[in-house]
Order: sequence, then structure tokens, then C-alpha cells
Amino acid sequence: MKLLIDDANIEKIKKLYDLYPIDGVTTNPSILAKSKRNPYEVLKEIRECIGDDELHAQVLSRTAEGMIEEAHKMAEILGKNTFIKVPSIPEGFKAMKALSKEGFKITATAIYTPMQAYLAAKSGADYAAPYVNRIDNLGADGIASTKLIQNIFETNGFDTEILAASFKNSNQVQELCAYGVGAATVAPDVIENLIKNAC
Ligand code: E4P
Repeated sequence: MKLLIDDANIEKIKKLYDLYPIDGVTTNPSILAKSKRNPYEVLKEIRECIGDDELHAQVLSRTAEGMIEEAHKMAEILGKNTFIKVPSIPEGFKAMKALSKEGFKITATAIYTPMQAYLAAKSGADYAAPYVNRIDNLGADGIASTKLIQNIFETNGFDTEILAASFKNSNQVQELCAYGVGAATVAPDVIENLIKNAC
């Protein structure tokens, strides 16, 4: 399982990269807003800090046309190994289909149901990101939903991998690591608690 940092704070990113085997960084609009700076400036700084590792950045538009335009801008500014995070809404699937044909790397984000993940895979997404803890908060089971998504991908022969997101504790990360999901993006405080996880 790949391990990514779900944060945009440069100091925290540098510290975790120094200590742990990290594979990349994911951001979202609210994480970037915390810096109170131009989001593209922050993203460029993260890119400089992590080299060619995976960097995931989310589009803000709600229309497919707008998402596609943003994707072009992001890829141009942030370079190779940039994954365009596209929300798994109807216009998002339309954008994913077009962007995958153009060869963009795509992370289908904000996944709350296994069938959203199925549609994302069929639309050409490289990653599908189920929000484990937020699914729990809706009264469903985030871990069980993520495992079901893994089964759906395997059964249907999709190349799409899971990028599990929205963790509140290290045990959730451990459960999905043991199940063999492709990747997890985890907030710095939860990464630091991974070494304290008891079985
Ligand atoms: C992924 O990139 C998501 O934005 C993130 O994991 C959501 O986490 P939260 O539910 O803790 O906000």
C-alpha cells in the first residue's frame, strides 16, 4: 500500500518525508485554504519539495467543461505525476471520460458509495478515493465499503486503484493495509500515530 500525506503544510511534509517512506501528497480545497495563500503557489512549493512523487490536486469547477480547463492549467503548472482530483458527481464522470482519453492522471474523489467507484473506474480514473471516516459519519461502514470497492475492481478486472482517504485513526489505515488496497492518504497526526498502533 502506498502512503501519501493528506496535507499542504510544507514544514509537516518535509518532516514526514525525512522520517518515513512517503509516496506523495494529496491536497483538497479546504486543506489549501488553511494556508491563506494562492493555492497554486502552495502547490508549486509542494511539487518542489517532493520532486516527481505523486501530487494530487482538486478541481473546483462544478461543470465538466470547467474541470477540464482547470486540469490543463494544473498539469501545465505542476508537471508530471500530477493527479487531477475530480469529484465523483455526474459532471465529474463526464470530465473523467474526456480527461482519460487525453491521457491525464485522474483521482476520482469524494467517493461515498461502491457504485460511484465503479463508475469512476469505468470512466478511466487511475485512483478512486473513498472517504472512510466520512462514510462512517453517515451511518454506513467506511472500511467495509472500501473493501467492497476493492472486490468490485478485482472482479471486474479494472486497473483503477483505491486511494483511501479521510482517516481518523491508525487502526482504519491498518485494516485497509492488511486488505491490500493500493494507497492511503493520511493526515500528518494520524501518520505519526501509525507506529503506536496495537493489534
Ligand atoms: C482526500 O484527499 C480528502 O480530501 C480527505 O482525506 C478528507 O479528509 P477529512 O474527512 O478528514 O476532511
